[in-house]
Amino acid sequence: MNAVSSPHSNVSPASSAIIHKPTIIATQDLRKVYRTGFWLKAAPPSLKQCSIEIYKGETFGLLGPNGAGKTTLLKLLLGIIRPTAGAATLMGEPAGDSEIKSRIGYLPENPYFYDYLTGWEFLSYTAGLFGISGQAKKRRIAELLDLVQLDRISATKKQMRRYSKGMLQRVGMAQALMNDPEIVFLDEPMSGLDPTGRFQVREIILSLKEQGKTLFFNSHVLSDVEKICDRIAILDQGDIICIGEIEKLLGNPAHYQVKGHGGSLDILDQWLCDITFNDGYWQGSLYENPFEFMATARLMNAHIAKLEIAKPTLEEFFIQQIRQRRENADKMSAEQIPKAKRSVKPRRLFGKLIAQ
Ligand SMILES: Nc1ncnc2c1ncn2[C@@H]1O[C@H](COP(=O)(O)OP(=O)(O)O)[C@@H](O)[C@H]1O
Ligand SMILES: [Mg+2]
Repeated sequence: MNAVSSPHSNVSPASSAIIHKPTIIATQDLRKVYRTGFWLKAAPPSLKQCSIEIYKGETFGLLGPNGAGKTTLLKLLLGIIRPTAGAATLMGEPAGDSEIKSRIGYLPENPYFYDYLTGWEFLSYTAGLFGISGQAKKRRIAELLDLVQLDRISATKKQMRRYSKGMLQRVGMAQALMNDPEIVFLDEPMSGLDPTGRFQVREIILSLKEQGKTLFFNSHVLSDVEKICDRIAILDQGDIICIGEIEKLLGNPAHYQVKGHGGSLDILDQWLCDITFNDGYWQGSLYENPFEFMATARLMNAHIAKLEIAKPTLEEFFIQQIRQRRENADKMSAEQIPKAKRSVKPRRLFGKLIAQ
């Protein structure tokens, strides 16, 4: 909760700086419909008209429930799959451009490692793909192992089938960073990790952020996202339902928590919701203008001990956004059903009219 000092106190100077940075990733009406089965039947769209911009140097989190379309959007940006409609650009070039691919890094959602290689051998193979060899290769691998906090000795001796999930995730991070990429895409980098593993991945992400890299990652671990992201977008059933700086999203719509003593209960009742009493103090939620409330409090001789913006957590905000969207969708489909019923026409089968 933030204490109210001025009507503009929920706009942080750090966040406003991001607005002026150049765009590094942009999508326009990006859409993906997978075609599956023998007849290549179109499935419902996995991504619908997605238009977003990511700024250079920012850490951007894409959140959404399972099946929302997060991995689909990431794969479209990487050029792994082609859009059904719309376009995406990275650093001004079309997604999938081979020169651009050499300037980005990617940690997949479920990376597959050849189990019988050691971490060092796997990274050595990755270095080869980027044309890094000899002493430069040894230096780069050692640097990356240090960055992801993997022990050099076990990386050279231990086969990856003996690695824990956290160690595999760190090898995956190291391979994603081999080419010193300008943009790093991470698909669920914290999933399946214990709190220590998550903390370490978070530290790596923060150190990349300090180096000025642009980070785009998918996650459903909201507490981590809240700690490291400059901006987020929420994706649900292929739709971007909100996008922005966490601070601003959570502060809007704001209400206030007020605590005080004295005054008239009848008047307080008109202004506050959920009033409780404790130790001679009353407390409640204020949805009106706080300055007008303060003036009223003075007139009724009430003393205000505390007035704070009550912001939801990112988790509460996320759940509320998804719930609201689904309720709206249910309402819309309920309104459409009677119209659809009216338009039902009898079908002709073997020359006979039958009702549907
Ligand atoms: N290769 C594919 N073929 C057909 N459908 C797919 C494919 N990949 C994903 N989907 C479908 O697209 C939707 C979004 O999936 P995905 O992008 O993996 O979601 P998320 O990463 O948010 O969990 C899901 O309904 C999923 O079943
Ligand atoms: Mg996914």
